[in-house]
Amino acid sequence: MLFILWGKILNYKETIMKLIIRKIYESEFYFTENLTRETFWNLYKSGCEEHLVLHNLRKSKSYIKELDLIAIHNFLIVGHIISTRALIKNKFGKEHEVLCVGPISVSPALQNKGIGTILIDYSISKARKMGFKGMILFGNSGYYHRFGFKNAKEFKIATKDNQNFEPFMALELIENGLKNVKGLFYDDEAFVINEEQLLEFEKQFPIKEKSKPIFDLRQYT
Ligand SMILES: CC(C)(COP(=O)(O)OP(=O)(O)OC[C@H]1O[C@@H](n2cnc3c(N)ncnc32)[C@H](O)[C@@H]1OP(=O)(O)O)[C@@H](O)C(=O)NCCC(=O)NCCS
Repeated sequence: MLFILWGKILNYKETIMKLIIRKIYESEFYFTENLTRETFWNLYKSGCEEHLVLHNLRKSKSYIKELDLIAIHNFLIVGHIISTRALIKNKFGKEHEVLCVGPISVSPALQNKGIGTILIDYSISKARKMGFKGMILFGNSGYYHRFGFKNAKEFKIATKDNQNFEPFMALELIENGLKNVKGLFYDDEAFVINEEQLLEFEKQFPIKEKSKPIFDLRQYT
């Protein structure tokens, strides 16, 4: 059995929540893809694509099963996080392996109760134990700074289009882990979504109404 009991207890409005964090089983892939869809729906675009990104990451060469993790509360999957292999390439063609974090999802009904924090802390410590030097993610800096993520610019790491912006962040997993890892960041091709594939993939899920996204991503770039 691969169960790991994360010894942290959440206090929320006098309720005590116990969470189990563990590696996912293949039989739980669909459930977490649907959770991701529920979580991201109409958030950053009309509908969402993160569930297909997750699906494709699981079939990619960047996939690391030890870093495909779920949070369970009361026998139900309430959160999910994945980290996959990515590369930083410098101008001389030298490559360094790092992790790309995300998508991360917490069941909308259970957000802001500390589940995301426990998942992220757990992933960071697991990745560190596995010997990875650094993690990269795209997200809201107001949230990820608390885990030690900094603007990737501070490490002289830019996106593959040579861009830097506040949501593009990096974390050193060991001291000076990203010190000599300068260059452009290449995540897996699974992050590029084909709209036709998305339409086809959507057929597996319950019908949901699309609306205007809640967040406008253009304000962050
Ligand atoms: C982002 C997410 C994973 C955080 O998990 P969570 O369990 O809700 O968060 P936690 O309870 O650990 O942390 C709560 C804190 O994070 C803040 N927070 C939560 N989501 C945030 C977001 N998207 N941006 C900025 N801050 C956020 C809350 O305001 C709260 O702040 P406080 O501690 O100062 O009160 C979760 O809200 C989620 O699934 N959101 C939708 C999908 C998403 O945006 N995923 C991440 C994309 S990179």
